Amino acid sequence: MRRKANMNETLKTLQSLRSIHWQFNEKPVSREDIETIVEHSLRAANSDNLTDYSVIAVTDPEILSQLTEGESGGQALTCLVYAIDQTRIIKCAEALGYDEYQPWHRLYNFFIMIADVCAAAQTAVIAAKSLGMDSLVTNFSHRHKPQEIMKLLNMPQEYCFPVIQVVLGYTDKDPQQTRGRLAMKHVLHYDRYEPASEAEVQEMIAEMDLVYPEYIGGQYKHALDWYFNEWFIEWYDEQVYQDLCDCLIHSKLLCERPGFSAEGLIRK
Ligand SMILES: Cc1cc2nc3c(=O)[nH]c(=O)nc-3n(C[C@H](O)[C@H](O)[C@H](O)COP(=O)(O)O)c2cc1C
Repeated sequence: MRRKANMNETLKTLQSLRSIHWQFNEKPVSREDIETIVEHSLRAANSDNLTDYSVIAVTDPEILSQLTEGESGGQALTCLVYAIDQTRIIKCAEALGYDEYQPWHRLYNFFIMIADVCAAAQTAVIAAKSLGMDSLVTNFSHRHKPQEIMKLLNMPQEYCFPVIQVVLGYTDKDPQQTRGRLAMKHVLHYDRYEPASEAEVQEMIAEMDLVYPEYIGGQYKHALDWYFNEWFIEWYDEQVYQDLCDCLIHSKLLCERPGFSAEGLIRK
């Protein structure tokens, strides 16, 4: 951590980031604030200057409840859905006569689309915090039934996919516990990657136990026991896996391997 003398307002804002797990109060987020946040999230770096994402600001409580399968429990009033969106680029390609263009021609594109949309979403989290607002990042949109969520939000069924949501709001709570952070020494490598030693692995397990979340309820020795025995298993489901793959292929953001051909696109 930087010494106090090096602290500035931006670093203070970053240090104060925390997730509010559906404990927002009734104070609404104004449209002006939504627009300030999204405008500044657009300042995040984006690959090839394509701005290949869209943001759907959900403020209708019914839509929000369906989006989160009821988990929000009326405790959230605003949610920004950050979605990959190649529809504008496809239209630009058509307008310029590049009819063969398909985003999935390069697997590389899939990574830049995900990276762009996540960079923008995290920038929204920081912008919101700087305005005195808290947030919760969630990946509901693809953990459940992505195709249904796309229909719910009236999203194009092709070239679009909701990746990450930023729930915004105010809270009266003051959660002290910041969860799931390893010390920087485990994460930062200079010049060459150093694999973790056995001793470091034990240290990391112990570090994760320091912030043993209250919802685990004491039945496991380690916080990670809960992750491996419950959370990972709860969300491991072959059908869900298949649905997500189908949805990405159907959205034309990924290609089924045997069908791949960029012929006609590559200039000889
Ligand atoms: C991709 C992603 C998905 C997440 N999904 C959820 C979620 O569905 N529900 C939830 O309560 N928190 C979710 N979180 C928030 C994490 O649980 C939270 O960041 C973590 O526990 C650390 O807590 P802190 O942000 O308060 O430090 C998600 C975070 C990320 C980055």
